[in-house]
Amino acid sequence: MAKGRVLIVDDEPAAADGLRELLAAWGYETVAEADGLAGLQRAEEFLPSVVITDVLMPRLDGFGLLRELRQRFPEMAVILLTGQGSVEMALRAIQEEGAYHYFEKPIDMRKLRIVLERAVEYGEARRENESLRRQLRDRGAFGELVGTSDLMRQIYALIEQVAPSSASVLITGESGTGKELVARTIHNLSLRKNAPFVAINCSAIPETLMESELFGHEKGAFTGAAARRQGCFELADSGTLLLDEIGEMPTLLQAKLLRVLEERTVRRLGSTQEIPIDVRLLAATNKDPHESIRTGNFREDLLYRLNVITIELPPLRERKEDIPLLAQHLVAQLTERHQRPGRILTAGALDVLRSHHWPGNVRELRNAIERAVIICSGEEIERHHLAPYPVDQRQRARSEDTVSLPVGTPLEEVERQMIMRTLQKTENNKTRAAELLGISLKTLHNKLRLYRDRGQIADSGQLQTPTSLGERRMGGVQ
Ligand SMILES: Nc1ncnc2c1ncn2[C@@H]1O[C@H](COP(=O)(O)OP(=O)(O)OP(=O)(O)O)[C@@H](O)[C@H]1O
Ligand SMILES: [Mg+2]
Repeated sequence: MAKGRVLIVDDEPAAADGLRELLAAWGYETVAEADGLAGLQRAEEFLPSVVITDVLMPRLDGFGLLRELRQRFPEMAVILLTGQGSVEMALRAIQEEGAYHYFEKPIDMRKLRIVLERAVEYGEARRENESLRRQLRDRGAFGELVGTSDLMRQIYALIEQVAPSSASVLITGESGTGKELVARTIHNLSLRKNAPFVAINCSAIPETLMESELFGHEKGAFTGAAARRQGCFELADSGTLLLDEIGEMPTLLQAKLLRVLEERTVRRLGSTQEIPIDVRLLAATNKDPHESIRTGNFREDLLYRLNVITIELPPLRERKEDIPLLAQHLVAQLTERHQRPGRILTAGALDVLRSHHWPGNVRELRNAIERAVIICSGEEIERHHLAPYPVDQRQRARSEDTVSLPVGTPLEEVERQMIMRTLQKTENNKTRAAELLGISLKTLHNKLRLYRDRGQIADSGQLQTPTSLGERRMGGVQ
């Protein structure tokens, strides 16, 4: 498989050909063009990861090409080849126009080889970010993270910014806010994405076993150590290790962890050998780390070591505007998992979800929806399927006294809903309902007969409960 696609743009055929052959020998798929305009056209079809361009060229010069490419394909890495005397301009092109790198001719091929490898990775990372941005626009999702609220957008921006580096990140937030999901997203957007992501939950492992879980042990290191075992650090080598619930780690182990971070080596229990490790460390906690320091549960020096960047996830109740999208995402995910396709959330159910306080955040929302998906036998998940979640009384009063309909609902349907809700409010007193609606009793009877004939209300003349009718008609999100 080719290492990546590279477009070479140079008006000097011998130079272009030489470079092309060299790059092909290094395993790249390459094409060449002789001026900026042709290069731009070629970039559109060939979609290279990297463009290497000469500066002085007819029609469109290298700087002009750079500018065009940055606008149209921000994910492409552009490398400039400058003659003597244009170094100043090339530097400015890096700072101000976002060129990836420049080489002064004659090119140092050894350096080019290294820079090119990084540029391809950079291009790939950018391409992924681009596709995530598109996803966010189209589906409201950033990888597996769903939500379009300002608070979540800020989180996405932070993730994008920190992911490519190897910096440690501390992820804080209440239980169920998505800390682990954020950790995975950081890993998937980093250059380590093809290496393992290992998560260890410090609160789930007995203190006596945690050290061996983290650092591994040699055979016979302690009673029960029947065979040699690698620890999480070794398993995550060249990848990412998430220390979940780091606040629950015994302070003695925290000290050992700090030593590992500083020396970048681990020693298995029962061994004297230092094993070098290359691991990016992420840590998560649902406690306030500064508070944990105060109570003596978190070593301050470790916090400062880990806390290069902190991502604080907001509780769900502070981004309620994300609930409809999240709920629909979870319904889709869980109906598939439980093989119950076609379930939709009614507007009434959504009311319940929107009005709840969600102390358990997205995990609690997920559980509520999972339960509803399982117990719901029809197609529609309704209010009562979410029975353990009472509607906030104010919200209930409001939703029973109002009809909420999507923009673009046919007027006839608007009328029908209004009539049914009014009848519900007057407890089926038609005279009173007709009065409230400002129509004659006869008109009301005629309309009801019409609905009956169309099967929109039960044959017996008995009203179907207006709530469920209303919910059925409104379907998903309003
Ligand atoms: N923004 C989100 N979009 C989609 N799903 C989410 C989001 N946030 C959380 N989830 C889902 O909610 C559940 C809980 O998320 P996660 O395990 O990452 O939370 P956590 O903060 O690590 O919780 P805890 O502190 O309890 O360990 C998971 O099923 C996850 O997939
Ligand atoms: Mg977690």
